[in-house]
Formats: sequence, C-alpha cells, structure tokens
Amino acid sequence: MIIIASHNGVIGIDAAMQSLKNGGSALDAVEIGIRAVEADPDDHTVGYNGYPNILGELELDASIMDGRTLNSGAVALMRGFPYAISVARQVMDRKLPHVLLAAEGAERFAREIGAEARDRMLTDEIREIWRKRLAASASREDLSAIPDEAPLRDWVQLATDPERVAGTVNFIAIDSAGDIASGVSTSGWAWKYPGRIGDSPIIGAGNYADNRYGACACTGMGEMAIRAGSARSVLLYLKMGMSLEQAARQAMLDLRDLGGDYIGGMNLIALDKDGKHIGMGSRAGAYIFQQADMSAFQEVERELVTIPGRWAGAPRD
Ligand code: GLY
Repeated sequence: MIIIASHNGVIGIDAAMQSLKNGGSALDAVEIGIRAVEADPDDHTVGYNGYPNILGELELDASIMDGRTLNSGAVALMRGFPYAISVARQVMDRKLPHVLLAAEGAERFAREIGAEARDRMLTDEIREIWRKRLAASASREDLSAIPDEAPLRDWVQLATDPERVAGTVNFIAIDSAGDIASGVSTSGWAWKYPGRIGDSPIIGAGNYADNRYGACACTGMGEMAIRAGSARSVLLYLKMGMSLEQAARQAMLDLRDLGGDYIGGMNLIALDKDGKHIGMGSRAGAYIFQQADMSAFQEVERELVTIPGRWAGAPRD
C-alpha cells in the first residue's frame, strides 16, 4: 500500500493512509486525502477559499479515476459545493452515462445527491485580495462598474498573475488489493476568465490511472497538460515499455515542444503498478509519499526538467 501526493497533500495523507490500513480502497484514500485539502481555508488553490475567477466567483474542477476499470468521474466550474472530489466520485459511482459534468449541471447533480453545500465559499481576506488585484490592474476601484457584457478578456490579461496561475492537489494510491486510483482537485488559475476549465477534470490531461501500468497526476498550467495529454502520455509511455523515469521525463519533454505565449510551469507525480514513484517539475519542489510501514510521510525532491517560456517560473506550489 502506498500513497503519493503533491506537497499540499500533507494535510490529508495521514487520514488517507489510515483508511487504506483499515481496509479502505484506493478510491477512498484518494477522496479522503483530497477532501482535507479542499476543506483547508489556507490553501488558496483548491476547494473552499481558493482564488476566484475574474468576477470573484469560485469555480472548482476535480476528477477521480479507478485504475481497475478506467471508470472516471469529474466536475468542472462547480460553484457552492466545496468538496468537488466527492461530487466527481459520485458522477462515477452513481453510474451516470457520463464522465464530466460542468457548471449548472454539476451543481444540480451535487444538489440531487445531497452534497455538502456552502453559502460563502470565500473569506473576506481572499475577497479583498481579489478586489485589490482587479482594482490595481484596471486602475479603478468600482468593481460594480464592470458591465455584464464588458470585454473580460482585457481584464483577465491585465489581472493574470503568473505566480498564481495554478495550484492543484494530486493524490494517487495503491490499496491492499493492488488497485490504483488517482484524484485531482483545483480552483484553477486565480482571476481566470469565467468558464475556463483546466486539466484537473480532464481525464488524460491532468489525471490518469490504469491498474495495468500505474497512474499520473499533474499540477501547473493546465492548458499545457490539456494540449499535450500529459497524464495519459506517461501511462502510454509505460505501456510502450519505458521505465517510470523515462516515461515521466518524456511527458515533460513533450511540453517543451508546445508553441505559443502561454508556456509556464508543469509538475507531475506518477507511480507504476509496483508502487515505484517519481515526481518531475519544471521548477524545484517536492512531493510526498507514505507506505503502509511508515509512521509518517516523507518528502522527495522532484526531478527538474526546465521548460523555457514566458512564465517558466510559475506556478509556485
Ligand atoms: N492545473 C490546474 C489548472 O490549470 O487549473
């Protein structure tokens, strides 16, 4: 049994491992670990109290994947429900003929299943950070003056902060039966255009698990992982016979081939079916792991694969 997670998973990895030790499934462990991060008001990149979009609304994305069957569930742009990972799991478990629900549809489904709702998804502190950023970008204080049909694309260009373009939590687990699950949850880019969806709820981009080979999950500029199909690429490279190290490195190198202005930071964590794990990133940082015989998690430095680009240093995580 093993769990690996992005560094901000520190707050949830103990409970996730306890669940595995109590006989819980890899899916349970992933959900438990991510819920802890989603509930944390001090993590502004995931769940409750994340950075909102340019209009000050918090839109959450999440996905979960079952490596036994490749069944998956995902939600995107969901407002008012802090535990996006649990709603994503229910999309899978309630046997909808769908993988991904977005916006009003995801919120309607969350209500139908009695998911925990929250009226105020942002603290005053985060609302003030958003208000100041927007005011500074637009040289004006009166946010109520943004007309409904204002060209928000200009505001997004002005307000986008490369240090806050993304941040996400990843959890991957192997349970006592050897089954693998992976989950990802995020509030996405700070000050994003309303309706922007990142890689986290896109199966194959930010998340992929397959018992036969392993699993991979990403943090960073989701647009890049969507364009390169990063998480699935790692699994495909494993399937083609590469080692875990080669597969993860090749997926990172693929990102270097992307053209365009919006090239920034990407990180991934991955493990193979035997529980060997790795983290790679375009910026120095660490991920965490815990095996059943360890009393606490350990940190491991990610291997560095630089990706030159305008925002090469971002995001911080
Ligand atoms: N990786 C998270 C996002 O881009 O939304």
